Amino acid sequence: MCGIIGATGDEGVLALLLDGLERLEYRGYDSAGVALDYGHDLYRARAATGTGSLADLRKVVENVPAGVTAGIGHTRWATHGHPTETNAHPHLDCSGKVAVVHNGIIENWRELAAKLRETGHVLASDTDTEVFAHLVEEEMASGSSLANAVRSSLREVRGAFALAVIAASEPGTIVAARRVSPLVVGMGDGDNPMGLLASDIPALLGHTRRFWVLDDDQVVELRPGQMRVTTLAGKVVEPTELQVDWDIEAAEKGGYPDFMGKEIHEQPRAVADTLLGRLLADDTIGLDELRITPDDLRDIDKVFIVACGSSYHAGLVAKYAIERWARLPTEIDIASEFRYRDPVLDERTLVVGVSQSGETIDTLQAMSEARQWNAKVLVISNVVDSSMARVADGVLYTHAGPEVGVASTKTHLSQIVALELLALYLAQLRGTLPAADARRLFGKLEELPALIETVLAREDDVAAVAGQFTKTRDFFFLGRHVGFPVALEGALKLKELSYLRAEGYPAGELKHGPIALIEPGAVVVAVATRTRLWEKMMSNIAEVRSRGATVLLVANDGDEETAAEADAVLWVPETEPLFAPVVDVVPLQLFAYHLAALHGLDVDRPRNLAKTVTVE
Ligand code: M6R
Repeated sequence: MCGIIGATGDEGVLALLLDGLERLEYRGYDSAGVALDYGHDLYRARAATGTGSLADLRKVVENVPAGVTAGIGHTRWATHGHPTETNAHPHLDCSGKVAVVHNGIIENWRELAAKLRETGHVLASDTDTEVFAHLVEEEMASGSSLANAVRSSLREVRGAFALAVIAASEPGTIVAARRVSPLVVGMGDGDNPMGLLASDIPALLGHTRRFWVLDDDQVVELRPGQMRVTTLAGKVVEPTELQVDWDIEAAEKGGYPDFMGKEIHEQPRAVADTLLGRLLADDTIGLDELRITPDDLRDIDKVFIVACGSSYHAGLVAKYAIERWARLPTEIDIASEFRYRDPVLDERTLVVGVSQSGETIDTLQAMSEARQWNAKVLVISNVVDSSMARVADGVLYTHAGPEVGVASTKTHLSQIVALELLALYLAQLRGTLPAADARRLFGKLEELPALIETVLAREDDVAAVAGQFTKTRDFFFLGRHVGFPVALEGALKLKELSYLRAEGYPAGELKHGPIALIEPGAVVVAVATRTRLWEKMMSNIAEVRSRGATVLLVANDGDEETAAEADAVLWVPETEPLFAPVVDVVPLQLFAYHLAALHGLDVDRPRNLAKTVTVE
């Protein structure tokens, strides 16, 4: 799981690669590297210093001579081989005349490496990627052009990948291809436009707004002002064009010290935009873009939700909403488990993949599995034309804008909102939602952005509460009903940002084991807003208090009865119980964000993580 970038042109190639790599660092930052084509000669530079990799790479290439005709770059999240400079991309062939960057995994690399060694190739790294440089070398040695050599080599590799290759013998040319992993290509502006490629659109936004998205096993040949897409067999194809209207500013920090802070504050907008145009004046929901017909959805008798991480937590909320309003049995599964447990699916099952990136390999594969059983497959994604959007029968986009911080915030809230819309839409189609209820619920949905603003305006109070817990190493997060996914998400945010032990439990489960861990000094964070099981939640809080726990509660404004049971309170406004997660999770995001800052940690790039997980 890495980011790749490439550019061909007369000038500005290196600066473009370095800036693009900065935007791609959310995909991994174990190392960074570039290979530059000087017309019949390649130059490679790499750095592997974790979060400092790109800064160090910039120093290495500071004084390289002008005259670069093409270049490729890479930012790495290590899978095969330690995160060392030797394993950093780009990888070269034996002669140093072919360079490759790659995102994904070449599954049969061991067998290919063994064959290459038998024929005299010397492989310098422990990576799966390097074999590709040597395969291309072999093909070119027997007279193939770079493009033909890449096409032939691709026929030998198995797995999921996006890769880009340059060769000293073909100055100004980049050949790239994808299978499963994401890759976009574009053309710069001007008379002799640069040919561009990257793992995602924001990496190239400063240079073009017109993109082409490659299908699996398509190969692109880029030269300045020229682009040709072919199949593996070499047949020329017309790629799908995409015009993007995102503002580049939207992908930058906008005055906040980090992306995560900015993205937390963008949540009211993200929620409002996700609702935009979907609540209609006649008290119905309009989801015309779904691509699955109302008749097909009416025929559904079971829903499966599959997702990972924060998206899974959003899916947990949806289970309550779909069962409550649409009266449809709904199961939720962690995507990496789903496809290996023989789920019972048929054409009347709706499988909903939830993924901000639309690229997470576990969710993508779960959706492909569902399609094999003829289930209807829908994805909820934040990225237009993502791999999942292409696999699914239908798409419901969240409109959160690009999220750069590794920890999901605004996309998580937007996912919950999109899933609530889906639940209400299914209810509308099935006739299980009386018009008066729909009207009332729509009003509540429309209030959500303002309620989130209210919580954000209290950020200083949350930061002060976080300051009381700087010595705590272990946290228990408790919730019931829709407060349970909120507890899980609060715990996940704390774990990934602050590296503190934080476990989320359904509070009713506490007495079945975890309560043994409660002793004086334990810290319990509980979601105690006035949702369905508030009274039972208060009993669980009493149980931990009587065993000496310090209790931090998320409580509704003015609820002194709840506050009386707490050592500290994070206040939130009250809303419709099934929408409460959208509001209640916000102070827990802020709590984790400020606690991480107090511990001096980089909230945008937590250790060991990557924004998009494209390996199993
Ligand atoms: O792109 P996805 O929504 O599929 O990503 C799923 C998870 O990897 C993601 O939510 C992850 O758990 C985040 N780091 C949570 O903050």
